[in-house]
Amino acid sequence: MTEKRQSIHGQWSSRWAFIMAATGSAVGLGNIWRFPYITGEYGGGAFVLMYLACVLMVGIPIMMAEVMLGRRGRQSPINTMESLSKEEGLNPAWRYLGWMGVVAGFLILSFYSVVAGWTLEYIFHAGSGSFLTATDGEISEAFDRLLRDPGQLLAMHTLFMALTVVVVAMGVRSGLERAVKVLMPALFILLLIMVGYAMSTDGFQEGVYYMFYPDWSKLSAEGFLAALGQAFFSLSLGMGAIMVYGSYLPDDASIGHTTVSIVLADTLVAIMAGLAIFPLVFAYGLEAGSGPGLIFVTLPIAFGQMPYGQVFGTGFFVLLLFAAWTSSISLLEPAVAWLVENRGIARPKSAAIAGLIAWTLGIGSVLSFNLWQDYRLFGKTYFDIMDYVTSNILLPLGGLLIAIFTAWLMSRKAVVAELGLGEGLVFQSWLFVVRFVAPVGVVVIFLHAIDII
Ligand code: TRP
Repeated sequence: MTEKRQSIHGQWSSRWAFIMAATGSAVGLGNIWRFPYITGEYGGGAFVLMYLACVLMVGIPIMMAEVMLGRRGRQSPINTMESLSKEEGLNPAWRYLGWMGVVAGFLILSFYSVVAGWTLEYIFHAGSGSFLTATDGEISEAFDRLLRDPGQLLAMHTLFMALTVVVVAMGVRSGLERAVKVLMPALFILLLIMVGYAMSTDGFQEGVYYMFYPDWSKLSAEGFLAALGQAFFSLSLGMGAIMVYGSYLPDDASIGHTTVSIVLADTLVAIMAGLAIFPLVFAYGLEAGSGPGLIFVTLPIAFGQMPYGQVFGTGFFVLLLFAAWTSSISLLEPAVAWLVENRGIARPKSAAIAGLIAWTLGIGSVLSFNLWQDYRLFGKTYFDIMDYVTSNILLPLGGLLIAIFTAWLMSRKAVVAELGLGEGLVFQSWLFVVRFVAPVGVVVIFLHAIDII
């Protein structure tokens, strides 16, 4: 009964283009800024292992499910969920899963853009050579000074949001594909160089030990939840970003293979970022758990000391900016696709409206580092709350609902047809994981964190 839908927003030119775009979405500040600092806050090795387990057991299967739903629905996540639920004879209220994703996207982009703004600022710092002459103390003082300056933070936040809006306005396909193809490998090589530098410092052994030796006594229930949240955040899962990218995926592309490549690339980048940063933390006697400023304090010290540090430093922050850029556009795309589909608003205007909403929400994050730093809820600032609520609650909840919808409610025929894995062992294993392992994992970690188990 279902004739094939077409997306009104167009399609990726190939499977490869989708892999590039989805990897661009996944690889970003989450890998290079968030992964090391969260790992540091939750004590290292045990957190990393738990994170890897979440990526493998929850991330891969749910990403396949999310891409699959997107491609079958071929619309914005809100309309995709509504159409698919109607097609399956389910309650169209499933569209609220799409809405939850749109809200989560705004909340994430609001603080993501502020952090990307720090990256912008650091391109100028690195470029000016100011790291070369600064002492360690001056480098961390410079970061604190930036945080205390709401005007500067706001300016950079605004600039980054404008960059995001421009690309989304042009349509995520144009220009993006070409840029990602060159920049991702470049980022990868630069990270390799950074790991190489980290190996030459005398903190390398300690850094590797810190990242991979699991001291389970250090991992709290809260840490388990943070590992799950980091897996969702880093893979761009649970809010419709991957779903909307899936809706532009050609019919003949294999969802299993593409997912595995995306997850591998994302995980590799995170591990490399950790290997580049933790040795420096120990070599320079810094604090692994020092929070969101971690890379902005450790890396500049390294750039100040390594040969060609000015060139590498500038290059690094430029590439990090691009990584953040190709991620931020995917946070806006679900909302924009909906505005275009349901409100008939042209794409550029839709992008501007959505960007303005996220920008406004971001002002709170800007202020939470200075004027509002004492306004706290459960000890958390506005910025912390945005990050916590989205990563640790909304994304895993979105993922849980995606798993339930796909593996319990959708007809098996539809799932088999769309996934294209046949009905053999691979499919059976996937179904088992999406049915049982992923949902139970998410629920147990949730309950654990609120201290029921
Ligand atoms: N995954 C990106 C990163 O690691 C951030 C991101 C982009 C994201 N789109 C998302 C996170 C959707 C959650 C949901 O930087």
